[in-house]
Amino acid sequence: MSPPGLRQPPPLGTSALSAGTYDGSVVIVTGGGTGLGKAIATEFGRLGASVGILSRNEQHRAAGVVAVEEAGGRAMAAPCDIRDPDAIATAFDAVESELGPIDILVNNAAGNFPVPAEDMSPNAWRTVVDIVLNGTFLCSRDLARRLIPAERDGAIVNVGASYAWTGGPGFAHSAAAKAGVKNLTETLAVEWAPYGIRVNGLVPGLMPHEDETAAIAAVPGKYEGQDSRVPAGRVGFPRELAWAATYLCSPYATYISGDSLVVDGANWQRRHTVQPPFTPVRQQLNRPPFGELAQPASSATPAKGSN
Ligand code: HXC
Repeated sequence: MSPPGLRQPPPLGTSALSAGTYDGSVVIVTGGGTGLGKAIATEFGRLGASVGILSRNEQHRAAGVVAVEEAGGRAMAAPCDIRDPDAIATAFDAVESELGPIDILVNNAAGNFPVPAEDMSPNAWRTVVDIVLNGTFLCSRDLARRLIPAERDGAIVNVGASYAWTGGPGFAHSAAAKAGVKNLTETLAVEWAPYGIRVNGLVPGLMPHEDETAAIAAVPGKYEGQDSRVPAGRVGFPRELAWAATYLCSPYATYISGDSLVVDGANWQRRHTVQPPFTPVRQQLNRPPFGELAQPASSATPAKGSN
């Protein structure tokens, strides 16, 4: 019989911090209308924050606003594609004019899909790097440029991934971008500490939720026996990430900056005494051999001498 593993967390709707911890604070959560971003936005709302939900998708924005309001917070939505610095400025302006000056930014929005590196088109690579790494930088920069001249403190949390440390076979674009985000977190924490701005990373483990994208949900075997595939003996819950996010931005974490907090029940450090048989990525994703795949024009090798 297996040992019991890590205990269950407190129930949904409870908070780690005191009620009202974020009264008067304005928080932006990018991608705050779905999944883990929605859980984080909701928890800030529960603790009294006014929350700006930024997303490209109108339905997602509406869902985020409802979730925050149901938890007792104030919320508004602003359309934003975080790849576009002008769109970020417009969205941040809209949040400030409705909710007040922004104190906290959660860079949660991401883009991702599994694909063997040799199948990945240049545009697929650029798209994910643009959303994950460039979007995180552009949003962080925009907030800093508001806080610094106003001499106001702030906190930024960058949602990361443990394959920033290990590499991410099947997710080369996202893993490389998340490694960039981890590094950026460390740089910005040093640059902006003199201004009272803290920057931390927050890394989720296996935390199933209803908004997983079709491409990720389609990974073969993804939902089989999930509890038994992690050392904790159970998957994580989005609220466990949300509690960590609200802690990292709180007054109780004012000496924590430049760190990345991994909330995954020790899954990413796992090693077997004898490793299980190795399965190449193409096989894990049920892909035919590379040569048998029709090549889309955008992923063809560029002609010699072209850019
Ligand atoms: C191969 C794909 C693809 C797929 C898109 N592309 N999906 N290639 N396999 N499944 C390629 C397209 O063909 C195109 O290249 C390029 O990527 C851009 O695609 P678009 O659809 O035009 O981009 P866009 O509309 O901007 O959408 C971005 C997106 C999309 C990333 C592709 O999925 C998205 O918006 N996702 C947001 C939500 C999300 O992904 N969340 C997951 C985060 S989870 P060509 O060459 O054809 O032009 C996460 C956790 C990590 O990050 C841990 C996971 C284990």
